[in-house]
Amino acid sequence: MSSIDVPLRRGGFGQTARKDAWWIQPLAVFLGFLAFIVYSTWAAMQGKNYTFGPYLSPMYSPLLMTSAPSWWTSVVPSFITFSPAMLILWAPGLFRFTCYYYRGAYYKAWWGDPPNCTVGEPRKTYWGEHKFPLIFQNAHRYFLYLAIVFIFILAYDAWKAMWWEVPGGGTVFGIGLGTLVMIVNPILLGSYTFGCHSLRHLVGGRLDEMSKKPMRKSCYDCVSSLNKRHMLFAWMSLFWVGFTDVYIRMCAMGIWSDWRIF
Ligand code: FES
Repeated sequence: MSSIDVPLRRGGFGQTARKDAWWIQPLAVFLGFLAFIVYSTWAAMQGKNYTFGPYLSPMYSPLLMTSAPSWWTSVVPSFITFSPAMLILWAPGLFRFTCYYYRGAYYKAWWGDPPNCTVGEPRKTYWGEHKFPLIFQNAHRYFLYLAIVFIFILAYDAWKAMWWEVPGGGTVFGIGLGTLVMIVNPILLGSYTFGCHSLRHLVGGRLDEMSKKPMRKSCYDCVSSLNKRHMLFAWMSLFWVGFTDVYIRMCAMGIWSDWRIF
């Protein structure tokens, strides 16, 4: 039987017996997250340029309201301008924040705890996820239920992106490059969401004899095959959500022209 030599951690923060460039992965994750957080926060606070023709940015969908509700000024500090994105982004945001893959990634990249496998960490004790604040991570399953609803909403948005208003009223069927961008979005998000570890446990993880439940076994196999590429889909879907918003925003601002395919 083959074996792998795993160098043991030694010393304090950042010390390791590893000879490879172990810092590249956490650095790339750090920069990737930073770029997305900065852009999505900026885009969510704009409150404009989130639609173009039948396109709606995924950062603003579902569009619950377009102007501030009456309670806004009494609850929210005056320097925060209302944006519809603020009403909905918390749900997919917390789904990603509590994702098992992302936890492993940002615990390393942002908290250095540890910076990477077998690399010395800054703390002497393990806090675990059974106490506040990290016990909150266990809510992931409930955010999964919300995230699944968002997949269907975004798929419906992609469908609506095929229907263009015409002068005089009514709509005609048409496909623009933005339509294709919006179709790819729920596909990638679905590939990420339906490969969730919590969903895998829900559909089959508690069964002792999977072979006696053929339907559950098929679902479990589907989730498992997506789960194998969970990290890949996590990053692809994150990038594509941002890109979809960029595309629609650029078209709405008149900087890019949407290519109408037919
Ligand atoms: Fe990543 Fe659930 S574990 S989405």
